[in-house]
Amino acid sequence: MGKSFILVAVDGGAASGKSSTSKILSERLKLLYVNTGSHYRSLTWAVLQAGIQPDDDASVSSYLETIPIGTIVEGREARITLESKVLGDEIRSEAVNNAVSIVAAIPEVRQFLLKHQRGYADLAKESGFEGLIMEGRDIGSIIFPDANFRFFMFADEAERARRRELEGQVDSIQKRDQLDKQRKTAPLTCPDGAIKIDTTHLTLEKVAQKMQDIVQSGNNMANEPHKS
Ligand code: CDP
Ligand code: CDP
Repeated sequence: MGKSFILVAVDGGAASGKSSTSKILSERLKLLYVNTGSHYRSLTWAVLQAGIQPDDDASVSSYLETIPIGTIVEGREARITLESKVLGDEIRSEAVNNAVSIVAAIPEVRQFLLKHQRGYADLAKESGFEGLIMEGRDIGSIIFPDANFRFFMFADEAERARRRELEGQVDSIQKRDQLDKQRKTAPLTCPDGAIKIDTTHLTLEKVAQKMQDIVQSGNNMANEPHKS
């Protein structure tokens, strides 16, 4: 019998280290990697390009119905496409940083992406991967609550701001986190039973190794309660 398919969910606030460590793990464990922040960022960019105000829920929702979205697999990563194109650095612009949490709070936007995101499990299987690792804010709570492993990453705010600055990004992570935690639909939260990792004082390699050990040992029990 072949190995069973592994589903790994990774959530946490901005710059907690989700993307970097999930990418490393995808390489080591032959998983398909999906960054769902880029989905919200891509839609936000399109909304801004169309001249729609990010807090105009009705216009954003009806505009979404007109955008054809798809997926493309590049190496170990699956990316969202808008009108068959993968967007680049424009989705990391200051304008998108400032608007993305507002767009992401719209229930119709989340519903639209929920279907899309659940579809990556089949895509990973069909494409011959040994599993899927998806990261974002609501993966372990809403998208894949039955994932084999659910990680929740966190780090001190000052350290997260320092990381973003080092990347040369203008990004109010505190404001984004606040909006993400407070929204009614699928807020940023540590799902019950998730495995918490404080990345404040850990290198990327240490975090990735910790995750790898947990997945390979098959021990998906939650650890200490998350305080913040
Ligand atoms: O990389 P960073 O942590 O800064 O952010 P991101 O993962 O690119 O996500 C950008 C924004 O998308 C977040 O601040 C959330 O507003 C939204 N998001 C979400 O609502 N749900 C997800 N599953 C992923 C991202
Ligand atoms: O995806 P998320 O926004 O949670 O974080 P990331 O993009 O993986 O990490 C943000 C930045 O912090 C990157 O430049 C990482 O190299 C750095 N980082 C770090 O130095 N140490 C960690 N333990 C985690 C991230």
